[in-house]
Amino acid sequence: MSVYWPFGIRQGGMRSRLIFALDVGSVPEALQFVDLLTREVGMFKVGKQLFLHAGPQIVQMIRERGGEVFLDLKFHDIPRTVAKAAGEATRMGVRMFDVHASGSLEMMRRTVAEVNKVCRGQGLRRPKVLAVTVLTSLNREDLKRVGVTGGIENQVVRLARLAKEANMDGVVASPHEIAPIRKESGRGFLIVTPGVRLRGGNWEDQKRVMTPEAAIRAGADYLVVGQPIREATDPVATAREIVAAMERGLTPADRRGRPLGAPPPD
Ligand code: C5P
Repeated sequence: MSVYWPFGIRQGGMRSRLIFALDVGSVPEALQFVDLLTREVGMFKVGKQLFLHAGPQIVQMIRERGGEVFLDLKFHDIPRTVAKAAGEATRMGVRMFDVHASGSLEMMRRTVAEVNKVCRGQGLRRPKVLAVTVLTSLNREDLKRVGVTGGIENQVVRLARLAKEANMDGVVASPHEIAPIRKESGRGFLIVTPGVRLRGGNWEDQKRVMTPEAAIRAGADYLVVGQPIREATDPVATAREIVAAMERGLTPADRRGRPLGAPPPD
């Protein structure tokens, strides 16, 4: 149930935009987090570690407990292979999954087409299909070494444009790239952002970080947070603190709730 905040800001709106990264290597630990946090976050991100450890059943297990899943396997292969993998992710009932935008326009187009075909054919809920632009672990030098000489921001914007052209639903990108992506892609394009830390938290392993307030203010639609919640003595309290910080990132102009994919108000 949503609670209405003063000025009509819908509390619960931001809760649904917080994604907890289930970066653990044991099923009991993963399910313990799911039971603890299902009412506190909007989605659970399942990455390669948990998926390979637990198998595809982990998606079913999370859904049976009332959780939604962002399947973060970052597919990158020939178009047919990625499209077929995307069909399987769709049949699993995930809410979102991602592919690498650098896999090509054709790879993304075929992926979107296969997802639409599977959903239409089987009457399934359509997952959001996201494109990873440039991994946040890469710096300018790393990109140069693989032949990308134009800088990170240019590459991110180029890939976001390609994803939009392929009719992808949005991108995964670092908080510092939200503004240029929003400018380039306009309305209705989702931006999912990792690299988020509460003020005073552990900033050491993520150089390119932002607070939840700042990331929401900049125009992020969903925030992915792992370690700060996972390693908190009270994960529920920390998740609530992050949701409260996200609410603070909304300006009064957002008070009826900001639609997904909307640019932040001026
Ligand atoms: O650091 P934290 O645990 O909050 O990260 C949550 C998720 O964000 C990770 O699962 C990872 O996929 C992603 N991440 C990222 N770039 C980083 C660090 C983490 O995309 N530099």
